[in-house]
Amino acid sequence: MQVTTLLPFFAASQLLASAATLSPTQHLNVSVTAAENGQSVIQCWQLTTPPSLVTIGDVNFQSQSLGDLQGGSLNIFRPGLNLGLHAAPAKQWVIVLAGSIKVYLQYNQTEANTAFISAGVAGVLLAVDTKDVSPIGHITETIEQTALLFLPTANATVPEHTVLHNNVCAGQDLL
Ligand SMILES: *[C@@H]1O[C@H](CO)[C@@H](O)[C@H](O)[C@H]1NC(C)=O
Ligand SMILES: *[C@@H]1O[C@H](CO)[C@@H](O)[C@H](O)[C@H]1NC(C)=O
Ligand SMILES: *[C@@H]1O[C@H](CO)[C@@H](O)[C@H](O)[C@H]1NC(C)=O
Repeated sequence: MQVTTLLPFFAASQLLASAATLSPTQHLNVSVTAAENGQSVIQCWQLTTPPSLVTIGDVNFQSQSLGDLQGGSLNIFRPGLNLGLHAAPAKQWVIVLAGSIKVYLQYNQTEANTAFISAGVAGVLLAVDTKDVSPIGHITETIEQTALLFLPTANATVPEHTVLHNNVCAGQDLL
């Protein structure tokens, strides 16, 4: 299964006539629960695969591939739920369809290390700190009633990326 997410980089339809403005150079940055030295860390990654220009009907738009996926599930959580410490159940994309989540580390609860992810165009987290690489994992809480789409990567592959920095994506990373 191949799934793409549609990125509203060029929402104004007037821009669609200009190929120059559409060149797909803005690589997606995403906050990640990754693992280093056997424990979870929160990092900002930039995907190696750039968005591409896709046409449906009369409309051109930027489309970001999420790579090959395997399975997928829609998960509904009640408000104010604390999942406690857990490893990622699979190497997976987590798409916040409704509500919001707070994802953080038990051993380092700084603001820069805490991902607040709400439904919307930036409502994406990549969770790859599975038990084999991070036995303890991270903590997730829901704030409101929350619907999360889990999209595990095929064969537990980690999407090609560069690590932009530790801590969540912020500021310049999310233009
Ligand atoms: C905790 O995170 C902050 C940045 O969010 C970092 O500067 C600090 O080194 C971290 N501390 C530990 C013990 O990992
Ligand atoms: C996953 O593994 C299967 C079986 O080894 C292989 O056929 C398939 O191409 C792999 N897919 C990816 C995306 O790595
Ligand atoms: C990703 O982050 C880099 C570095 O902060 C930034 O230059 C780039 O514009 C960001 N990409 C997007 C799509 O926001």
